[in-house]
Amino acid sequence: MRVAMIGSGYVGLVSGACFADFGHVVTCVDKDPAKIEALTRGDIPIFEPGLDDLVATNVKEGRLSFATDLTEAVRSADAVFIAVGTPSRRGDGHADLSYVYQAARDIAKVMDGYTVIVTKSTVPVGTGDEVERIVRETRPDADFAVVSNPEFLREGAAIADFKRPDRIVIGTDDERARRVMAEVYRPLYLNQAPILYTGRRTAELTKYAANAFLATKITFINEIADLCEKVGANVQEVARGIGLDNRIGGKFLHAGPGYGGSCFPKDTLALIKTAQDAGSPMRIVETVAAVNDQRKRAMARKVIAACGGSVRGKTVAVLGLTFKPNTDDMREAPALSIITALQDSGARIRAYDPEGMEQAQSLLEHVTYCDNAYDCVEGADALVIVTEWNAFRALDLDRVKGQMKAPIVVDLRNIYRADEMARRGFLYVSVGRPDGAADADGLM
Ligand SMILES: NC(=O)c1ccc[n+]([C@@H]2O[C@H](COP(=O)([O-])OP(=O)(O)OC[C@H]3O[C@@H](n4cnc5c(N)ncnc54)[C@H](O)[C@@H]3O)[C@@H](O)[C@H]2O)c1
Repeated sequence: MRVAMIGSGYVGLVSGACFADFGHVVTCVDKDPAKIEALTRGDIPIFEPGLDDLVATNVKEGRLSFATDLTEAVRSADAVFIAVGTPSRRGDGHADLSYVYQAARDIAKVMDGYTVIVTKSTVPVGTGDEVERIVRETRPDADFAVVSNPEFLREGAAIADFKRPDRIVIGTDDERARRVMAEVYRPLYLNQAPILYTGRRTAELTKYAANAFLATKITFINEIADLCEKVGANVQEVARGIGLDNRIGGKFLHAGPGYGGSCFPKDTLALIKTAQDAGSPMRIVETVAAVNDQRKRAMARKVIAACGGSVRGKTVAVLGLTFKPNTDDMREAPALSIITALQDSGARIRAYDPEGMEQAQSLLEHVTYCDNAYDCVEGADALVIVTEWNAFRALDLDRVKGQMKAPIVVDLRNIYRADEMARRGFLYVSVGRPDGAADADGLM
């Protein structure tokens, strides 16, 4: 099969490289010339484990190429995927579909012969209808179908998720398009990945329902964590106690500083807007979004409490900036709100992240970026662990303590044990665990 991928970001580049690895001939297109120049040189513009090797191998074998102009790729393609961004529209929280519609117009102008246009971007219900209308209006003579094929990969584990998905959702009523999609995904089908064929609107909504459900799960355990701190219970044990129930499942039950990233915040907002417009408001998701928003600044208050009620003039070391480990993606990362709130309260910030500092520099001001974790804690009055990179899980704690001005650690990911930290002489605060809460209370 010949595949054109319009948009070569976190989703487009991973999907394109994986399709090429299945044996298809893929062109990844992006309107950003710097991105395409880098890819053509062999540089990967994002951090995603394993992606550099996957891209290099498939380029070498002649199955993967890059372009800024989509004409050739689209003309020869059996399937054209749209994988452009759908950020929150400024002002109202609806998904901004301008990139998707522009891509649809660009594709329509050059497509040739029967073409399956596949929306991989996360788009609100009814977007497929509008893409179809745009293509029809631009090219009344065109022979095409518009399919919804939402993507469920996670940054940081994107290649494994794409190659071994829990399911593939394909939304179309067009029999020819269904056959093309079955061929595109045939290698996965052989690997027993379940393919769910649905109507287009159902596929579009399934993606939002999945993300809203996961965001709800995270927010639920975060509120349980708050309650644990009040009543002297341990959220990790509660999570295990409920997660072993198959009806609940153990994943996404890690209490922390609130969800961030390029998907959950914008997708919950977009679903809320869609539901309101449809006259069927989703009050649970509305509450989840509001609770999560509050939580990020509440984490800064937790740090301030651990520091005795004030951080004015103090130095706070922040380990981890990205919204989760194994990515360089800083979009909506909790670290942004936490650091800003600490700065608002007069703290100086030193920070270190293995991959996120370049993106962070354009989003945060007056932060001292450090070379490694030990450099970061030098002279600090408190250390906050915001992202659970593996590199932070086994720090030399005596060295950390020796370099800090005061041995205060606020662990927002619960990666250390309270008893061990106490034994080593730290004042240790974590999330939803009794020792952490007791330490924090003790200071207030
Ligand atoms: N990032 C994730 O983990 C993830 C997971 C599942 C779904 N999604 C969804 O996939 C979509 C893409 O997300 P992303 O994180 O890859 O975004 P991204 O911002 O990393 O990449 C989008 C790319 O599209 C390019 N682009 C925009 N308009 C274009 C056009 N007309 N022609 C060619 N290129 C164009 C941009 O230059 C950019 O490089 C979004 O809808 C997102 O919600 C993302």
